[in-house]
Amino acid sequence: MIFTAASIIPLLVDLAAGSNSAGRTIVQQGSTSGAPACVACHGARLQGNAVIGAPALAGKPAAFVIARLEHYASPAGHNAMMKQVATSLSPSDREAVAAYIAGLKAPVVDPR
Ligand code: HEC
Repeated sequence: MIFTAASIIPLLVDLAAGSNSAGRTIVQQGSTSGAPACVACHGARLQGNAVIGAPALAGKPAAFVIARLEHYASPAGHNAMMKQVATSLSPSDREAVAAYIAGLKAPVVDPR
């Protein structure tokens, strides 16, 4: 099968928009399964919030974000705030959120 630029570019745009729109909705508004909006604690641009010790997330690699969410959801994860968040997200929610976060511009300074 031959992919021309005209056929593949809209496909890539659709893929990016698809994964990012689900992730963006959870980050900004929370999930229907009960996870609160990430921006409430991590800052409007996920730049971090030193007051509650929430690290910057913007630009962190997707694999890292997924690994941290799996940790918080597991019996080894003891942070009460993130346990509630992580256990409310399905594996596909975590992937969508992680893809969106990884695509954000990282802040200059992590305030934590
Ligand atoms: C109620 C406040 C709160 C909400 C809402 C919240 N977080 Fe967090 N998050 C925290 C705090 C506090 C930490 C630091 C916990 C620790 O010290 O282990 C943290 C840590 C993290 C980390 C680890 C970052 C690192 O560098 O170690 C990730 C990833 C993360 N949160 C993702 C998310 C995502 C994704 C969402 C939204 C679905 C979210 N958080 C919503 C408070 C929150």
